[in-house]
Amino acid sequence: MPSNAELRDIALTVARRAADLAHLRRSEGVEIAASKSSLTDIVTRADREVEHLVREAIAASRPRDGFLGEESGGGEGTSGLTWVVDPIDGTVNYFYGIPAYAVSIAVVEGDADPQTWTTLAGAVVNPVSGEAFTASAGGGARLNGRELHVNGDVPLELALVGTGFGYDATIRERQAAFVAQLIGKVRDVRRIGTASLDLCNVASGRLDAYFERGLNPWDHAAGALIAREAGAVVGGLGDLQAGAELLVAAPPALYQKLNPLVQDYYSAWR
Ligand code: IPD
Ligand code: CA
Repeated sequence: MPSNAELRDIALTVARRAADLAHLRRSEGVEIAASKSSLTDIVTRADREVEHLVREAIAASRPRDGFLGEESGGGEGTSGLTWVVDPIDGTVNYFYGIPAYAVSIAVVEGDADPQTWTTLAGAVVNPVSGEAFTASAGGGARLNGRELHVNGDVPLELALVGTGFGYDATIRERQAAFVAQLIGKVRDVRRIGTASLDLCNVASGRLDAYFERGLNPWDHAAGALIAREAGAVVGGLGDLQAGAELLVAAPPALYQKLNPLVQDYYSAWR
């Protein structure tokens, strides 16, 4: 069994190669390959090509591990480890040329289910800035090798809070209704468009907190570990782990203040 640090290094090496390919394809022009859950939920040719590169590279170094990718789905392994991959998180930013998108790669132990898995290592690379966020369980979080720590005690009214919206119009209207309640209680709200980077931003102190409903496993697998290892509390709806129902990430004291507001709204939504 490789160490968590070795797994993190594999994730980083592959994520950097994938980021270079995504960046190159962006410079050549982006083509939409298909729409998924709604007309605005797009997949580009680059998403597919980058995921293929990641899948092949991981299979070459870890042939017995499983795989769960946004574009190519799952593949069972025999080692008990699964790689959870978003080849281009922030696809809409990628399509428009907004420089906030990322390759996100995590490796988890147990079933490929956020409710039960243990994340061992992860890497999130922004191809435009060249920033590589990494973490291994118990080994801390880093940005290009520098240790990361969440912000210290921030009162709710001074907190800069990130969030995101789903692709379904009815769902995003309900999400926006909660933001309308929250925005007067905090410093401000950011919708950056890339869940993995939102979580890394909490880790590095560029955001104080982040929450979102409707995330897929590959959106948060690596970023949630990076935020946790930088000192954030990352939780889900009620007693659940962070997952599709809800993810909330913040430094401990701020979490105590923000989480009840988010829980109140989202537990009524079930
Ligand atoms: C999306 C982004 C976005 C978040 C959505 C995700 P995609 O992932 O992370 O910030 O709000 O929930 O689905 O589709 O760009 O890979
Ligand atoms: Ca994503």
